[in-house]
Amino acid sequence: MVDTSLQEGILFSDELQKKIKEKFWHVDSDPLRKGRRIFFDNAGGAFRLKSVLKSYENIDALPDCPERVHETALYLQKVQENGENDIRTIFNAKDGSLLTTLTASQAMFEMVGAVAENIPGTNIVTTMLEHPSAYDAAFYYARKTGKEFRPVKTNPVTGGVDVDEIISKVDCNTCLLSFMYASNISGAILDAEAIIKAARERNPDLFIIIDAVQHAPHGVIDVDKLKVDGINFAPYKFFGNRGSGIAYVSDRLSKLHHHTLLAKPEGTWELGSPAPSQFVAITEIVNYVCWLGGQFIETGTRRELFVEGMNRIKMHERALMNRMLNGSEKIEGLRKMRGVSVYLDNPDMTERDFIIPMGIDKLGFTQAVREYEERGIIVYERINTSLYSKRMLDSFGMNGCIRVSPLHCNSTADMDDFLETTKELAQLE
Ligand SMILES: Cc1ncc(COP(=O)(O)O)c(C=O)c1O
Repeated sequence: MVDTSLQEGILFSDELQKKIKEKFWHVDSDPLRKGRRIFFDNAGGAFRLKSVLKSYENIDALPDCPERVHETALYLQKVQENGENDIRTIFNAKDGSLLTTLTASQAMFEMVGAVAENIPGTNIVTTMLEHPSAYDAAFYYARKTGKEFRPVKTNPVTGGVDVDEIISKVDCNTCLLSFMYASNISGAILDAEAIIKAARERNPDLFIIIDAVQHAPHGVIDVDKLKVDGINFAPYKFFGNRGSGIAYVSDRLSKLHHHTLLAKPEGTWELGSPAPSQFVAITEIVNYVCWLGGQFIETGTRRELFVEGMNRIKMHERALMNRMLNGSEKIEGLRKMRGVSVYLDNPDMTERDFIIPMGIDKLGFTQAVREYEERGIIVYERINTSLYSKRMLDSFGMNGCIRVSPLHCNSTADMDDFLETTKELAQLE
């Protein structure tokens, strides 16, 4: 039985929506251009919280080395510790280590390398849907360690990867399974719990790493429940800033031989001195999501408030996604609009993050994106001449799409305006 409210989502009140918009920079306009601008390219870098940039600047302005004992140094240590606790809040990580790098891709290569180089086994399994950061890391280390590389095919109906397909590639000689939580092209959410359970039934010692860069800003992650060995996210897609990649590393993965400084305690993944400002950015992200959660529940632990906030984000985005696909009394949705195609359109909304891959039948993808831009709407084309999307698109038998990726800061009015413009573009001669 399908629960309809779960399928339909729940919108924020207008009042809350307004408050949310005010907490972010540039939701409705771009300082470099005149007039209203709708930004639907959050999968390429999301709206930034004003609080993140403010706190980042305040902390980064301090010249002090955190590895000292004077007052400001101790303060900076506390900032880092709070940030680390907040990374744990995001992941619900009660054990393991944290890994911070300049990008999520670097974190992925570090984790995959440690498994491939230390764990016996003759093959590595990943999926055709992966972002190059995970796919290429698995490919690179499979080749380096002489292991068979086993990419799993995608499902062109759901836009995801089926549990059974993944499991069919895992055997007792698989040393690593790496898969993404959700796709940055189709928005499909992979059933992480089912994949992990079935994979470990086949191979109880299997190391599992997840790329959560796409999913983290749209849903709850719980490593305590999942029992994965590594998982990452990128703050710049999660209301934060560029310049950092964050990962959780399980205790057993932490202990594997990896890049580390001899002076640090065993299991440390941090190399050198990370910037405290990157940690305060995480604290501000978690503060924001907890504030949002606090609009719906009165009290709770930081994790409980965070989970509530993320679930509300998910439900609001789902309601917006329904509006974009099915329309309203004002205007028809993409599914019914003449001259428009929606790709990888899984009808089960609970299996999707809010990304719509679509096309305008009479316009090429690149041209359509330029036409949207002329009308004040920023979306992005994913085409099979781009190395970042070719493999995934080929796997679905597609040569491209316009990727539309709004965020919970957006409102129903933004959806309707996008639909109006889409209708106009679909009718261009
Ligand atoms: C799903 C997914 N994984 C990984 C990455 C890589 O993140 P970063 O640019 O921080 O290395 C991206 C970036 O687009 C992504 O969308």
